[in-house]
Amino acid sequence: MTRIFHIADLHFGTEDKALVENFIALCHRHKPDVVIAAGDFTQNGRKHEFEATKAFFARLPAPIVATPGNHDTPTRALLARLIHPWKRFRTVIEAMAQDALVIGGVQIESLNSARRAQMRLDWSLGDISKSDLTQLTSEFRKSSAQTRILTCHHPLLAPSGPTGRARTRHGLWAADQLAQVCDLVLTGHLHESFALPLKTKGQTCWFIGASTAFSARTRDEPPGFNQIDVRPEAHRLIHFASDGQGQFLPVKTVKLARSAGAPHPLNFQ
Ligand SMILES: [Fe+2]
Repeated sequence: MTRIFHIADLHFGTEDKALVENFIALCHRHKPDVVIAAGDFTQNGRKHEFEATKAFFARLPAPIVATPGNHDTPTRALLARLIHPWKRFRTVIEAMAQDALVIGGVQIESLNSARRAQMRLDWSLGDISKSDLTQLTSEFRKSSAQTRILTCHHPLLAPSGPTGRARTRHGLWAADQLAQVCDLVLTGHLHESFALPLKTKGQTCWFIGASTAFSARTRDEPPGFNQIDVRPEAHRLIHFASDGQGQFLPVKTVKLARSAGAPHPLNFQ
């Protein structure tokens, strides 16, 4: 079994410090083999927010796989955003985390779905590069790993469909491509926890969203994260949610079947 802690939308700068401490304590207690962090480490891409992320990473007792989110570029300094959008992410996050990892028969890859600018008004939305995704799926096809996982910040499938903040460009196309070669796709951005199955040729790929991990600026559900135990027959997902007093508590456990017979889409709230 390989244990994953899946977090997203940490948003250092608006973090609940008690939840940060509790998450670190839970990492020591539950001993994940890897922490997969699906973007939006900072609130506004500021230096001190990246420094807080760095201090957090330094205290985690597991390797980290990280991918950037739309908040990880300077959100208020347009020139810096256009000239070197990922400078701070590369300097701070990439120095402490990896963009890919193979561990215990599990291959984890990441994909940057955030953009410095777009030909649409809302630059916070996701965009999947078709050439990058084709390269990834080709690597997954060649892989001998028993379980293949992709993480990107923006959702490819979402409970409400490709509307609102889930309008990831080429998202549905990417979901269809990944479902053929991948077992789990771990995302963030919506601050919404869910697990959606997509079945192809007898195997099921699960698209899993995480709530915001630490942000005090929540939307419709409290901060939380997912523990995913990767197993041969069916994965086990335990969703932890904040109790409102600085503690994460397990609130739902679901079985994610790997093949035929996948249950209906799941929402954790
Ligand atoms: Fe985001």
